[in-house]
Amino acid sequence: MNLRPLPDRKISILFSLLAIIGGGIVIFTFVGDTPTNLVCTGKFDNNFRDTSASMQLRAILHYATTKTTPQQSFNEISISFNVLKSISPCNFLVFGLGHDSLMWASFNPGGPTLFLEEDPKWVDIVLKDAPDLNAVHVKYRTQLKEADDLLRSYKSEPECAPTKSYIRGNDKCKLALTGLPDVVYDKEWDMIMIDAPKGYFPEAPGRMGAIYSAAVMARNRKKSGVTHVFLHDVDRKVEKAFAEEFLCRKNLKDATGRIWHFEIPAAGANSTDSGSFC
Ligand SMILES: C[S@@+](CC[C@H](N)C(=O)[O-])C[C@H]1O[C@@H](n2cnc3c(N)ncnc32)[C@H](O)[C@@H]1O
Repeated sequence: MNLRPLPDRKISILFSLLAIIGGGIVIFTFVGDTPTNLVCTGKFDNNFRDTSASMQLRAILHYATTKTTPQQSFNEISISFNVLKSISPCNFLVFGLGHDSLMWASFNPGGPTLFLEEDPKWVDIVLKDAPDLNAVHVKYRTQLKEADDLLRSYKSEPECAPTKSYIRGNDKCKLALTGLPDVVYDKEWDMIMIDAPKGYFPEAPGRMGAIYSAAVMARNRKKSGVTHVFLHDVDRKVEKAFAEEFLCRKNLKDATGRIWHFEIPAAGANSTDSGSFC
């Protein structure tokens, strides 16, 4: 092999690195300012710090050097990436912290991205490496083994009805996630990614509450436009059944691999007494 002299190679490696970092910053910083950015404008408030630039630099460094890649495939991530490209900066709520967290937050520069995580130890581990992420520990009231029963019985609990449609303080409806920080209820989320909590063993919380609560939040939207809801692991029975029940096949806009993308309109005046979310 014909290698160039060492100083030349060093200079070219340095230029390549600078090009990658600079390119990343330019793409992700200006992507949110395109004319297509009409749907939502996430605003930072006292609950969130805007750390977009440092986060993106950290993300580039992290993904350039890590051997552990996110679980979602390129095609699965691309659907969310394209949506975020057109609506960011937006209010982005993510169920679960993982190897993809830095990526999601970096895809939404200038907008608040909030992660809800069931495992407090995992929160500490992730934040140690990425302290700029907005992540909170949350508790769930369900277990995966209750899923069939919850799907059968929620219709006989009036507080779960689509016409009621509230989460905060809804103790009677077990599917409503009542243990979330106020900021989750106070904000209108433009995009919700459900890739947690765990739903692969009977005692795990399962995603029933996350799916129900995302549907309710989306239906309660007051801003213009739709809420984008992404659900991962739809190859599993529970995710599929709860998505069909609450997110509705008619709202399914895209699907690839194990992810479904729903665009949920505000229920507004269309909310009926039929007892059905779909
Ligand atoms: C199904 S995983 C989704 C992972 C994410 N999509 C990713 O690419 O990393 C969701 C949950 O698994 C748990 N989890 C993920 N990675 C973990 C790890 N390395 N150690 C401990 N828990 C982990 C967390 O509780 C998280 O909320």
